[in-house]
Amino acid sequence: MDDGALNGRRIVVGVTGGIAAYKACDLVSTLVKAGAQVRVVMTRNAERFVGRLTFEALIGGPVSHDMWAERADMEHISLADFAEAVIVAPATANIIGKYAHGIADDLLSTALLVFTCPVIMAPAMNTRMLGSAPVQANLRLLSERGVRILEPAEGRLACGDEGVGRLPDTATLVEALEDALGVASDSLAGLRVLVTAGPTREPLDPVRFLSNPSSGKMGYALAAEAARRGGAVTLVSGPVALSDPRGVEVVRVGSAEEMHEAVQARAGTVDVFIGAAAVADWRPVEASDHKLKKTGREELTLRLQRTPDIIAGVAAWEPRPLVVGFAAETEELLAHAEEKLRAKGLDLIAANDVSRLDVGFTTDANEITLIDATGTRSEFPIMSKAEVAGAILDRIEELLARGRESGR
Ligand code: C5P
Repeated sequence: MDDGALNGRRIVVGVTGGIAAYKACDLVSTLVKAGAQVRVVMTRNAERFVGRLTFEALIGGPVSHDMWAERADMEHISLADFAEAVIVAPATANIIGKYAHGIADDLLSTALLVFTCPVIMAPAMNTRMLGSAPVQANLRLLSERGVRILEPAEGRLACGDEGVGRLPDTATLVEALEDALGVASDSLAGLRVLVTAGPTREPLDPVRFLSNPSSGKMGYALAAEAARRGGAVTLVSGPVALSDPRGVEVVRVGSAEEMHEAVQARAGTVDVFIGAAAVADWRPVEASDHKLKKTGREELTLRLQRTPDIIAGVAAWEPRPLVVGFAAETEELLAHAEEKLRAKGLDLIAANDVSRLDVGFTTDANEITLIDATGTRSEFPIMSKAEVAGAILDRIEELLARGRESGR
């Protein structure tokens, strides 16, 4: 979060009746600490999960909850007059459905029809419920009307299921608000940032490929954060299930070779390169034009060849951008990361241990150590990928400033 960016800004937080309602307390507390003026609207069902008093203590004033409370103003109108941005977190299927169809049967659903400022919905519910046709159709409708829909995070859900449907962490919610309010910083203004993300797919035949479980989340978080800081960002992405980050040019590719070409096409036009893609190291020497048949075969031998090392190619460019890579390792993390930093000619490397289940490839969280070309190490605790992206970009900004001082 940028210092002072939310100071004095007027934000309405809508809280609906999902188990994640307790996380809205942290959001409200964070916004208040950042100096924002916050009004909270709770639905009746939200009050089954969290007491009104909790929010009242956090904002130091009353919570809006009753359409029929005796007061001088009409609250649904005064909330809309007040708000510069609105976030509904968590947003249940119910409020999403009501908002999509203009149903106004309580204070929050009524006020939603009056707001003219940016509105953010943070859906949080069971994976199957989220994926249901009506909920998806309602989210699409809202999105077409300009409502910002936040992508739910993945992980363990209250019902015990694993999957997509969790409320994103507070940093992501705050960032969405900053974005909506247009209070992004400009610390990367004038700089061109190129990011690679996701896995690559190396075809064996028209229907099969070699790949890895990279979700692309780390690279997407970096691209989003770099754009928020004012950078002109291009994201070259392998196949992932994520939507385009706001304000980022996205180039979609399949194989390592395609990613390499997309990156090379930008040689000489990049100030910062971040290689967050999990590029396949090997590809089949030949990809069959037709589906490989199993009949009459007990074994199949594949011949593999190396794919281009994209980041090492970038590090050899003249003029050379600041080059940042990742080392996803399962053993001797820091030693291997340092070796990679040197071998590939990088300025900075983010080392993360992908043998762990709680952080790394497919999760929403990551734990990294940054190592720069002078061998300086900075360790970070386990954080969301949005927060990790912030830490990496802070370090990149320091290195850029140092480079400018030494006239590089
Ligand atoms: O060699 P290794 O794959 O472990 O290196 C990881 C770093 O190098 C990451 O930043 C990754 O994006 C980048 N890389 C690349 N092209 C490859 C392999 C890795 O850009 N072919």
